[in-house]
Amino acid sequence: MDKLVVRGGAPLHGEVAISGAKNAALPILAASLLTSRPVTVGNVPRLRDIATMLALLNDMGVSHSVEGDTVILDPSHIDRPVAPYDLVRTMRASILVLGPLLARCGEAVVSLPGGCAIGARPVDLHLKGLAAMGAEVEVKKGYIHARAKRLDGCRLVLDQVTVTGTENLLMAATLARGTTLIENAAREPEVSDLAHFLVSMGAQIEGIGSDVLKVEGVKTLSAAGGRYHVLPDRIETGTYLTAAALTRGAIRTLGTRPELLDAVLAKLREAGADITTGEDWIELSMPRRPRAVSFHTAPHPAFPTDMQAQLMALNCIAEGVGVVTETIFENRFMHVLELRRLGAQIAIEGNTAICTGVDKLTGAPVMATDLRASASLVLAALAAEGETVIDRIYHIDRGYEQIETKFSSLGAEIHRVC
Ligand code: UD1
Repeated sequence: MDKLVVRGGAPLHGEVAISGAKNAALPILAASLLTSRPVTVGNVPRLRDIATMLALLNDMGVSHSVEGDTVILDPSHIDRPVAPYDLVRTMRASILVLGPLLARCGEAVVSLPGGCAIGARPVDLHLKGLAAMGAEVEVKKGYIHARAKRLDGCRLVLDQVTVTGTENLLMAATLARGTTLIENAAREPEVSDLAHFLVSMGAQIEGIGSDVLKVEGVKTLSAAGGRYHVLPDRIETGTYLTAAALTRGAIRTLGTRPELLDAVLAKLREAGADITTGEDWIELSMPRRPRAVSFHTAPHPAFPTDMQAQLMALNCIAEGVGVVTETIFENRFMHVLELRRLGAQIAIEGNTAICTGVDKLTGAPVMATDLRASASLVLAALAAEGETVIDRIYHIDRGYEQIETKFSSLGAEIHRVC
């Protein structure tokens, strides 16, 4: 199993190019199921989760070719509207094929995703929404079976803000009969990116970027022949900026969109970072020891849960006490135990972590437990004295493209061993 070996202490300096957003590319690739015409998607990151989505689509009969960061899909025939357990269990986002499969084929059989390291993560709202649109939905032997000749538009009020739930229902609604209103929709930029992609295929969607999406169903969608460019990954951007802050370095992230990171940049500024932005770049320098920051996670545009672990790593070596409350996932503090192995002082009370900054962390063997927890361990290791070996980094490869190459180019001592 691959490991990352990090020798900490060097401040990060230089420029790093940001990849396309995993969480936008995944639903966009799934949305190719809605059309029978070829689809071309650019700025797709080379990640394990993307490979899983392509394998899933391939298994159903959607072939693809890859040229650099561009994926060309041929969804002309769907042989089997089935997402098998073996693929779904490796990536929960596989559930994103449910809505488009059902809308295109009139049926879908998708393995129920299990729990995961960060919590129970049910998909009840996806299923309730599709049922409200007229689908017969049953769960049998671990599989969701959904059937509907054609879905009917209706008013959906989501009990809770759900990103992939909103995306599934949005995709399904594009081919439904009549109008669908999705209220309390997720406003994450990746949801908007999917919506823009659907519009580029002829979908009729109003309210993009707001919490009410209005979809006028159409009979067919057809990629207009253009190449859709996936938006930059705001979480990858935030991860590199936070790494620079932890190591008291100065970096510039390129090919990104500052307005997607308002809540994160505000916290980094509060921690003492100097930040300047341009249209597609962000520069951060941290001239002093960071100050600890307090925050709670919440749906966009508030502070993203996917950046919680990285900011917690910053708090570990900061001056003062930072109080972090996780409101999205019930078990998203797995990194705390590992950060403590590096010398961090963190107490947990329910869904709140109280972190008292220490003068220095010290390298130790640690284990990655989930994607963003792993990122926080890399960040802490970059600031720690001595060597840290991070095991089980397949979690990192799910969501960070060439992480060791990018960090090395910023002057970090980091390499992969098998
Ligand atoms: C997506 C992101 C993930 C991010 C999360 C929150 C993708 C591929 N993944 O995950 O990186 O951390 O948003 O920003 O985009 N819930 C229910 N019932 C449902 C659906 C969700 O109770 O049917 C709950 C979840 O358990 C969780 C909360 O709603 O507590 C939000 O989850 P959700 O937004 O659905 O997360 P994902 O879409 O799985």
